[in-house]
Amino acid sequence: MAIKKQQVVDALKQVIFFAKKDNIVDLHMIQDISIKGKEIKVTIVFEKLDDPAVGIIYNSVVKTLKKELGDDINVDVKPVGDENGPLAGVKNIIAVISGKGGVGKSTAAANLAVSLAKSGSKVGILDADVLGPSIPIMFGVEDGQPNVVEKKGKPVLLPLENYGIKILSIGFFVKPEQALMWRGSMANNAFNQLMTDSDWGELDYLVIDMPPGTGDIQLTLAQNYNIRGVVLVTTPQKVATADVRRAAMMYRQEKLTIPLLGIIENMSYFIPEDAPDKKYYIFGQGASDQLANELGIKILGRIPIEAKISETGDKGMPLSLVDGSPVTKAFAEISQKLKEEIARL
Ligand SMILES: Nc1ncnc2c1ncn2[C@@H]1O[C@H](COP(=O)(O)OP(=O)(O)OP(=O)(O)O)[C@@H](O)[C@H]1O
Ligand SMILES: [Mg+2]
Repeated sequence: MAIKKQQVVDALKQVIFFAKKDNIVDLHMIQDISIKGKEIKVTIVFEKLDDPAVGIIYNSVVKTLKKELGDDINVDVKPVGDENGPLAGVKNIIAVISGKGGVGKSTAAANLAVSLAKSGSKVGILDADVLGPSIPIMFGVEDGQPNVVEKKGKPVLLPLENYGIKILSIGFFVKPEQALMWRGSMANNAFNQLMTDSDWGELDYLVIDMPPGTGDIQLTLAQNYNIRGVVLVTTPQKVATADVRRAAMMYRQEKLTIPLLGIIENMSYFIPEDAPDKKYYIFGQGASDQLANELGIKILGRIPIEAKISETGDKGMPLSLVDGSPVTKAFAEISQKLKEEIARL
């Protein structure tokens, strides 16, 4: 027999939020219930997503629904932050991920942010790479210290700003040597603070430079925040695409189903200065296309190997700020395609 919404609501009344001494239905925490056959999706609103109760309630909802409605149902719980909460003004959270380090994830995140901002959007960038934060250098704000102000009786961090882009980095608070000794939970805490104890204000896009691979922060982001989608960065080599495939699959897990918005292939080819109409595919061709096919997603664009990327990155000025370069053009196309993919969701 088909499962009815009322049955789900009745079952959810058994789930108690102990700190608030009531069940999650009567606390008006259920934002949405959707039922497709044996698939039940429940969206639950929390005041704070880093509340330890989120995990407890998450598990309790899954257990209770299975107990009441049958073990064969598939439960997808999506905790979201309060609409008046700190990220309420952020329309699209985009996570930039890679499998391996060093493939150009930060470069891609920085240039994507610049390119989106140049197209008229309000943009923020959050550097969540604990072990190798590089966004402050790329945006020339490595000596900056974000101010703390009081808002609604709570201290909140004000992102720094350069080129019209709001910037926060885990690197403002921890030296890389210290980060090596951080336990996962500490890094996670810092990440949650950058997300929710900060005043991001109104943003069209919050681009997140994620640590490479799959770890605690990736899981926290995927499970606890309402992210619009993930952009994969890879270089053309088979080893790189194999790693990014693994990282991408985490976001496609049964209970997460976060859209993969497309692939940026970095260091795709080389254009010699004395032969500007030639392209040399130094790292090979085809592996990214194969990955895109397999995952059923698009290649958003291909970035050439270009020495100026490193130079401008080190000088604190992402190359996309310079009009007319092949890299600028590539990222303009990428940001356009990304907007189209988001519009199709
Ligand atoms: N298309 C490119 N052409 C030339 N150099 C590039 C290109 N993309 C990135 N680089 C350079 O390669 C290095 C690594 O890039 P980046 O820091 O963006 O990678 P990452 O994936 O974020 O690395 P990490 O895992 O260390 O965070 C940097 O010095 C950067 O300037
Ligand atoms: Mg990086």
